[in-house]
Amino acid sequence: MSGNKPILVSGNLPAAVLDFLGEDFQVEYHAEDRPMPRRKLLRLLSEKVGLLAMITDHIDEELFDHAPRLAMVANMAVGYNNIDVAAATRRGILISNTPGVLTETTADLAFSLLLATARRVVEGDRVVRSGRFKFWAPFHFLGREVTGKTLGIVGMGRIGQALARRARGFSMPVLYHSRTPLRKSLEKQLHATFLPLISLLKEADFVSLHVPLSAETTHLISRDELALMKPTAFLINTSRGPVVDEQALLNALREGVIAGAGIDVYEREPVITAGLEKIDQAVLLPHVGSATLETRTRMAWMAAENLRMGLQGEKPPNLVNPQLMKKRKRGE
Ligand code: NAP
Ligand code: GLV
Repeated sequence: MSGNKPILVSGNLPAAVLDFLGEDFQVEYHAEDRPMPRRKLLRLLSEKVGLLAMITDHIDEELFDHAPRLAMVANMAVGYNNIDVAAATRRGILISNTPGVLTETTADLAFSLLLATARRVVEGDRVVRSGRFKFWAPFHFLGREVTGKTLGIVGMGRIGQALARRARGFSMPVLYHSRTPLRKSLEKQLHATFLPLISLLKEADFVSLHVPLSAETTHLISRDELALMKPTAFLINTSRGPVVDEQALLNALREGVIAGAGIDVYEREPVITAGLEKIDQAVLLPHVGSATLETRTRMAWMAAENLRMGLQGEKPPNLVNPQLMKKRKRGE
């Protein structure tokens, strides 16, 4: 039996997840793969108490103004830079995300980008498909070695650590930079050495980014940082587009400042900086870090469970603004 509280699911989720939510709520959902148009999102939220949101939804003051009954937003992503959490907290709106269930999958993709850029996998595929594979030659189509090379990880959280574990299998020394250094026992377990960002950029053969997007990490990698990297080094970005100054990256690739880049996320997604598509040394993916059937299904269930719990007065397990629950407990 459908409950009375109205909620909106702004993405196309598995029927089983929608049915689960339908047991407790009156569910309206977006049955298309394109993001829900902004105006429609604002209109549909006018009566809703909950939103299961996609990273393509901008959850901001304007949206809250259109949703006077909104009590919770469950983001179907671990990153929640699409949400103004401070504004939500001021209005008493709970926010949750989906950490952990996508860690290994996203680390797999980062490592795929690392291998694909170093060994020119996508470029090679293009050569064969276009009929340009005419002969084998000993010094033709050379890439760069991966095994034994130094990996620099920026942002040593869940995904950064999962990448470090993969690097062990390739005998890669791991350097890392993060806001909070790991405890010594974990550093030892991961065979990882903490370095200031500048030293990491100078020493690493591969630099892989795993920080969340914030005011501090916007353009963390720009012209000056790229200039510190070795001309033989590769940049891998599966974090968020604005962590890298995309125009500076394009210039660095054109001028041979670095050897290549593997990119899953863009500064003005889904638009990419014009010219990037012509760079053979770049592998460009359409933000698919967590995109496996298994992981996206886990994320959908996790977001749905968070939303259900939050709207029923329980503490959702993946609350981003837990101070609101404490306030509620104190009766504030
Ligand atoms: P996480 O466990 O929170 O790890 C983030 C790490 O970055 C933490 O160790 C954090 O340090 C560190 N950090 C934060 N600000 C920093 C700064 N200014 N300088 C250096 N380090 C900083 O998050 P996660 O689960 O690994 O996910 C990381 C990000 O990946 C997400 O936020 C999301 O944007 C992105 N992501 C993308 C995809 C994709 O499809 N491409 C998929 C999943 C995730 P503290 O320990 O001090 O907090
Ligand atoms: C995807 O980009 C996520 O943050 O989960």
